[in-house]
Amino acid sequence: MNKFVAMVGTNAKVSTNRTLLQFMKQHFADQAEIELMEITNLPLFNKPENSPVPAPVLAMAKKIDAADGVIIATPEYDHAVPSSLMNALEWLSHRVHPFVDKPVMIVGASYGSLGSSRAQAHLRQILDSPELRARIMPSSEYLLGHSLDAFDDQGNLKDADKVAQLDGLFKDFQTFVTVSGHLNNAKDLNQKDTQNFDWNKL
Ligand SMILES: Cc1cc2nc3c(=O)[nH]c(=O)nc-3n(C[C@H](O)[C@H](O)[C@H](O)COP(=O)(O)O)c2cc1C
Repeated sequence: MNKFVAMVGTNAKVSTNRTLLQFMKQHFADQAEIELMEITNLPLFNKPENSPVPAPVLAMAKKIDAADGVIIATPEYDHAVPSSLMNALEWLSHRVHPFVDKPVMIVGASYGSLGSSRAQAHLRQILDSPELRARIMPSSEYLLGHSLDAFDDQGNLKDADKVAQLDGLFKDFQTFVTVSGHLNNAKDLNQKDTQNFDWNKL
C-alpha cells in the first residue's frame, strides 16, 4: 500500500483544504496510507547561510523523503498560494531537497466557484523550479469550489460527482506513482544537479 504525505497548504486554524485532506485520508483508507502534514510553526524563511536547517523543516523533509508521493491542498490568496505554503516550499528547497522526482498530486478548495484554480497553476510553476523539481501529476486539477458548503457535519463531501471525480484522480495518482517509479534513468543525476544547483551559474 502506498504511503502519502498530505500537506495542508495553510497555517490557518480553520481550513476547508485541511477538511478536504482529512476526508481523503478517511475515504481512501483502504487504498493508501495518508498522513496529514501541517506547515505551522516554521520560521519565516530568510535564506540562512550558516545556521543549521530548523528541526521542523528537517522533520518535514524526512517524511516527504520516505513517502511514495505527496498530496498538496492549496487555498488561494490574492490569486496565488498562501505565503505560509510558499514559506514551507522555500525551506524545502534550500539545503534539503525532498521533492526531487517525488510524485505530487495537487488539490485545492476555495470559497468561490473557481476552487483555487489560479493558486494550483501557481503551485505547479513553483514545484517545477530547479531546487524543488517535483514530478507533478500532469493534466489533472481537482477544484473544490464553494468549499464552505461542500462538507456535511461529519466532514464528508456532499456532492457525489465531486467524490467520483476525486476517486478517479486518486486512482490516476496511484498509477502515476507506479509509472514514476520506472522513470528513474536520470534519478542520480537529478539529485546531484539539484544539490549543486547555483543561481549564480544559471
Ligand atoms: C487575503 C485573502 C485573499 C483571498 N484571495 C482569494 C482569491 O484570490 N481567490 C479565492 O478564490 N479566494 C480567496 N480568498 C478566500 C479564501 O481564503 C480562499 O477561497 C481559500 O482558498 C479558502 O481555503 P481555506 O478554507 O483552506 O482557508 C482570500 C482570502 C483572504 C483572507
